Amino acid sequence: MRTYAQQNPVDPPDRPGWVDGIDNPYLHGPYTPVISEVTAVDLEVVAGEIPPDLYGAYLRNGPNPVLAPKGMYHWFDGDGMVHGAYFRDGRASYVRKWVRTRALHDEIERGTVELAGIMGPFDLSRVGDGRRTVNPDYCKDTANTTLNYFNGRILAQWYNAGRVHALDPLTLDTIGEETFGGALDTTLNAHPKVDPRNGDYLDYDYGDFKSYLTYYVVGADGRLKHRAQIDLPGPRLPHDTTFTPNYTILHDFPLYHDVDVLRRTGHRVVQFHRDQPSRFGMIPRLGTQEQLRWFEFTPGYVLHMVNAWEDGDWITMDGCFQPDPTIRRDPAEGSLASMLAYLRYRGHLRRWRMNLRTGEAREEQLDDLNVEFCLPDTGLYGVKSRWSYHQRIPTDLQTLTFDGLVKYDHAQGTREVYEYEAGWYPSEAPFARSTRGGDEDAGYVVTLATHVMDYRSEAWIFDARRITAGPICRVRIPARVAPGFHASWVPGRELWGDAPPSH
Ligand SMILES: [Fe+2]
Repeated sequence: MRTYAQQNPVDPPDRPGWVDGIDNPYLHGPYTPVISEVTAVDLEVVAGEIPPDLYGAYLRNGPNPVLAPKGMYHWFDGDGMVHGAYFRDGRASYVRKWVRTRALHDEIERGTVELAGIMGPFDLSRVGDGRRTVNPDYCKDTANTTLNYFNGRILAQWYNAGRVHALDPLTLDTIGEETFGGALDTTLNAHPKVDPRNGDYLDYDYGDFKSYLTYYVVGADGRLKHRAQIDLPGPRLPHDTTFTPNYTILHDFPLYHDVDVLRRTGHRVVQFHRDQPSRFGMIPRLGTQEQLRWFEFTPGYVLHMVNAWEDGDWITMDGCFQPDPTIRRDPAEGSLASMLAYLRYRGHLRRWRMNLRTGEAREEQLDDLNVEFCLPDTGLYGVKSRWSYHQRIPTDLQTLTFDGLVKYDHAQGTREVYEYEAGWYPSEAPFARSTRGGDEDAGYVVTLATHVMDYRSEAWIFDARRITAGPICRVRIPARVAPGFHASWVPGRELWGDAPPSH
């Protein structure tokens, strides 16, 4: 049962027995799911010292299925498992827990999985009259994609627009579904943005049968501030958003599924329409559809943006662009060909500029490295930031992983690369500002990594000003961390209050 085995052919022992019967690379080797939750304190430092001015939590979400899937397993289908590495006073602790979603709760009660994953086929009889269609009615919502700190809680959200799950930021226990005081009656996209200046939470809902987005602004107090419907030419698959102090920037890319095919087959068949433009929609923070302006660019697709900012009449936005997101299936890979192809990322760093007065649109490729999972100092979201930290993605492997940490200097147009040691599977790496303050890159870049041969896991801490020196500190995580999706840094002042003066 190991058709797809480029990694270690020996699976780790802490795995559910059912994975042995499923031939899928995202269930084996480094991707093998774990079987337990963990809480550990006073972690062993393997090399270096934990900097005393590293104060806060590295949080990462990812897929970790509990039970055998119904039908084909896609890496995006695993039950959300949240990993937290906490750093305070030169010491570290670690917590991992599942997100207690509605679907996981029901499955554990029943002992089987009932809902299909994203590869379907979907039981569309669950969508009712077709007007109130919510993806999780027929596709399992795992809350496995992102984590964002908002209003005292961690919000776990799902790739395909799902319910918002609130977690305790220290224990990572699931508190429940967040509805913002009952105001949220749709799902929400996995990539909300929180404005560090006034605490606004910005996000939108989309769906397989909805020819519109529903845009939300929730205030720092957790109460709905604004909601607007944005019409689209058809259902779309946006993934991210950016904002400036005055505008939110929405996405419409020519990569989407055919609704008739979905209705007929129960499968979401996504195609790239290379004759149609990429579009970014500029809407005032509390604006309406009538105030939205679309700007057209080269066809392609973007999963993640770096940042956006205002500069006079211009809005500038940097992100990781895929010029040709065609799903190039390799028929030799059988029923998993579409998933494996979709996860073979090809893209580069790109800049888009939009003039709000003249309507002019400009774009340029900034580099040719194959990079994604891009993060600036998220405390600078919405204003001009100089540095960002990306993962370099190898193009010759069967599964998605990272082989280098890249630091871009957006002012100089340069980059530095640290190549990870062979055999390690690192995670997305956010920036953690030093409690001592200083320049924009005064702080650390943190990640969790697991070695494919012996399955040991570590937290790595880089000095953000010299990432090419490699990790300045390595901390042993006393449990295996499988690769996953998005990570974020939560400053310690949000978790424990202001740092003591000794930092
Ligand atoms: Fe994402």
